[in-house]
Amino acid sequence: MNVIYLDNHATTRVDPRVVEAMIPWFDTWYANPGSTTHEPGRLAKEAIDQALARIAGFFHAEPDELIVTSGATESNNLAVFGVCLHPRQKRRKVISVATEHQAMLGPLQKIQKAGFDVKLLPVQSQNHCVPGQIDLQQVAEEIDSDTALVSVMLANNEIGVLQPIREIAKLCAQHEVLFHTDATQAVGRIPVDLDSLGVDLLSYSAHKVYGPKGIGGLLIRGQNGPMRLAPQIVGGGQQSNLRSGTLASSSIIGMSKALEIARESQMQESVLHGLWRNRLWDLLSAAIPGLQRNGPDEQHRLPGNLNVCFPKVEGQSLMLEAKGIAVSSGSACTSANPETSHVLRAIGRTDDEARASIRFGIGRFNSEHEIEIAAGQLIDAYHKLTSFVA
Ligand SMILES: Cc1ncc(COP(=O)(O)O)c(C=O)c1O
Repeated sequence: MNVIYLDNHATTRVDPRVVEAMIPWFDTWYANPGSTTHEPGRLAKEAIDQALARIAGFFHAEPDELIVTSGATESNNLAVFGVCLHPRQKRRKVISVATEHQAMLGPLQKIQKAGFDVKLLPVQSQNHCVPGQIDLQQVAEEIDSDTALVSVMLANNEIGVLQPIREIAKLCAQHEVLFHTDATQAVGRIPVDLDSLGVDLLSYSAHKVYGPKGIGGLLIRGQNGPMRLAPQIVGGGQQSNLRSGTLASSSIIGMSKALEIARESQMQESVLHGLWRNRLWDLLSAAIPGLQRNGPDEQHRLPGNLNVCFPKVEGQSLMLEAKGIAVSSGSACTSANPETSHVLRAIGRTDDEARASIRFGIGRFNSEHEIEIAAGQLIDAYHKLTSFVA
């Protein structure tokens, strides 16, 4: 497939080093790590325990603060339902943000139907100083003694905006309210750890960080302390009864390897991806008058993220015309949905502007040369389409 892949927010290619680490777990180390009655099972358990400790270590967490899930969607579900539906939960309010991923908005809608008061905070619009960021003052005003959970994503999947997580964590701690962050897009792209963020719960997914699909985790600070979650998947009692099901050994090994590589390469990659993102913007904006950037400046967004609004064309038509480039108009989960992006609307873009927008996600397997080719193809496609309009 000779396509320039710039859709690294939707998913990433599995790093070959991750694939290599996973292979023996299909045909050699296949024993169930729960089968401690025999040697292969015990050896598998030992190796999986070590991998889990390395994963937890990546986030500056203890192994018993990590619950392995099928990915960030499940982690977000577990955070919302686990906190709200805990038998000892008396509080009835959840605070989150209008621009969260559907993997968080879905559970929030469901918990609202179950009788919880769900408040979705607005974000700053495109002409404010940090478009897409929430206003801390509003969080402070909403938190009260009935708040069970505050959930704010660390980095947005469409416009890459970074939220002031540490400051929100401080507010939550003052009010003794649990704080969850969906860090799915941030892991491997910026430093992410429980200590410096100060969060109680953190969701992430391996496939956004060059690991396999179908695996991720929820980190829970002080899991053995007073805070407990109500399990949402029950059965064999694995993972201290918090999430039953045979541990996916090969995927855990892959996730561990992916995070190990991320720890080594994140700093260097983020510098490079930031430069390439700026280069892409410079090339496009020099050739297309009236091109607008969606979201904040580079200091407040993920390094490899760019989201632009093209004047006078639909993003969909541009993507069809520029066949050699894989990009998207927003979240992969909603790309088949004719509704315009709720994130772009939240920052004040009109439906037409949202339809004219494209999201770029630069990743490990791109090169500067590819960025230049992609820009050239987009500019040609844009001029071709607009020559019909003129
Ligand atoms: C911010 C965010 N949260 C959650 C998800 C869902 O992750 P998963 O595919 O692992 O369920 C995504 C995936 O696009 C995402 O970008």
